[in-house]
Amino acid sequence: MIFPVFWVACLQEDSISHHYIDFKGVSFIYPDNTQALSDINLHICHGESVGIIGANGAGKSTLLELITGILLPQEGEIVVGGIAVTKKTLASIRRHVGFTFQNPDNQVFMNTVWEDVAFGPRNYLLSEEAVEKKVTAALETMGILHLKDRPPYRLSGGEKRSAAIASVLALEPDILLMDEPSSDLDPRARRKLIALINQFTHTKLITSHDLDLVLETCKRVIVLHKGTVVYDGSPIEVFKDEKSLHTWGLEKPLTMSDCLVCDSKKNRGQ
Ligand SMILES: Nc1ncnc2c1ncn2[C@@H]1O[C@H](COP(=O)(O)OP(=O)(O)O)[C@@H](O)[C@H]1O
Ligand SMILES: [Mg+2]
Repeated sequence: MIFPVFWVACLQEDSISHHYIDFKGVSFIYPDNTQALSDINLHICHGESVGIIGANGAGKSTLLELITGILLPQEGEIVVGGIAVTKKTLASIRRHVGFTFQNPDNQVFMNTVWEDVAFGPRNYLLSEEAVEKKVTAALETMGILHLKDRPPYRLSGGEKRSAAIASVLALEPDILLMDEPSSDLDPRARRKLIALINQFTHTKLITSHDLDLVLETCKRVIVLHKGTVVYDGSPIEVFKDEKSLHTWGLEKPLTMSDCLVCDSKKNRGQ
C-alpha cells in the first residue's frame, strides 16, 4: 500500500534560516548489509519542532546519527545550516548540534555528574566561572542538582538520562536532536523534559515512542516505516488515522484514545 507523504513548506524561510537540515536522497546500509534508510528526502526548517516516530527498527536512531555525522551515508547528502556533513566538517557541525543518545550510557563517562556536564563547556575554553553557571543552570533545569557529586554509572536509568540531557543543555546548542528522551523518566522528570523542549525555540528533532510527548512538543511529525518516510505532516491528522498507525506498528497517543472510565462517568451524568 502506498501512503501519501505531505511536504511541509517552511514559513518565512529567510536569511535567518541557518539552522535547517536537508536530507537529499540519503540511503544508509550498516556493515552487515542491513539497509536502515532508503532514499530519504526531507527539509527541516529553521526553528521547527519535528517528531520522528516509527516502530522499532524503522530507522529513527540512524536518521539522527546521520545528522551528527556519527554515521555517514553511502548515498546522498545531509546538509546542516548550509554545511554538508562530511568527515571534514564534523567539528563545526557538532558545535551547533546537541544530541542525546537513545542509550545514555553512551554519553556519561566522567567521575561525577558535575564533571560530565562541565566537559562540553570546558572544551570551549570558557572561564571556570562561566562553566559553573552553565552547569548549575543545566542541572537545575533537569532537577538533578542534588546528584552533582554522584558517579554517573551508579545512577538509575532515569537519573542517568536526565544527566545526559543536562550535558547537552549546557552546550546551548542551535539544533537539538533527542533520541527517545523520555524513556526511563518518572512522571515529574518527563514533565520537566516536555517544558524544556517547549522552551527550546531553535530547530529540534525528537524521536519517541511516547506519542503524547510528541503531541505536546512537535508541530510536525515524520513517520518512518522500514527505512522510508511514509508520512510527513500534522501530528493530529496522523494520530487520528488509526488504520495507518496500525500498519506502521503504532498506536494513538493515550490523550487521544477513548477512555472507558471517563465515558462511563459521562454516561452516568457524573
Ligand atoms: N549497528 C548496527 N548494525 C547492523 N544493523 C543495525 C545497527 N544498528 C541498527 N541496525 C538496524 O538498522 C535498522 C534501523 O535501526 P534504528 O535506526 O536503530 O531503528 P529505530 O531507532 O527506529 O528503532 C534496524 O533494522 C536495525 O536492526
Ligand atoms: Mg532507536
